[in-house]
Amino acid sequence: MIEEIDYKLISEDEIEEIVTRIAAEIDREYQGKHLLMVAILKGSVVFMGDLMKKVTLPVEIDFMKVSSYGSGTASSGSINIHLDLQRKDIGDCDILIIEDIIDSGRTLSYLVDYLLLKGAKSVRTCTLLDKPSRRTVEYNADFVGKIIPDEFVVGYGLDYDEKFRALPYVGVLKPSVYND
Ligand code: PRP
Repeated sequence: MIEEIDYKLISEDEIEEIVTRIAAEIDREYQGKHLLMVAILKGSVVFMGDLMKKVTLPVEIDFMKVSSYGSGTASSGSINIHLDLQRKDIGDCDILIIEDIIDSGRTLSYLVDYLLLKGAKSVRTCTLLDKPSRRTVEYNADFVGKIIPDEFVVGYGLDYDEKFRALPYVGVLKPSVYND
């Protein structure tokens, strides 16, 4: 383990179990549907890559990039869309948004409404990690990997200052790394 990590919160093996379980749930829920998995850049790319390999139904993928405006504690802040879906067939798509983490809940609650307004046939959400203790907007994902405490987690897509995304596990960052 690298020195900036205090301890592993979710091991490689546990991540694989989570991904396998969620892929099986998706296979069950999306039979006969036009499944479009939309990863929200950048944090969810690792999860999306592993998940799509384990889903056995035909799956299409796409990407969006968004950012929260203002601090994570304000429930009324807006969301900026930096990369939007460009598809013409959105009305035929059963969209499953893929996230690495839900924190305040603002990103996902906004995106679900946004994609429904754009005309998606259905919109559901899937997150690897969920920090319910940080919610400022009431929102629960349809598929949840693991509920975690309010720790600074990195790895498996999640970053601190763009670093640590490539770690194969989810680890808790030592406070000395971000307190300097
Ligand atoms: C993170 C995460 C979600 C969002 C969750 O993205 O990937 O998109 O924040 O927070 P919320 O529930 O409070 O809205 P981030 O802005 O860190 O971008 P990144 O994925 O590119 O690292």
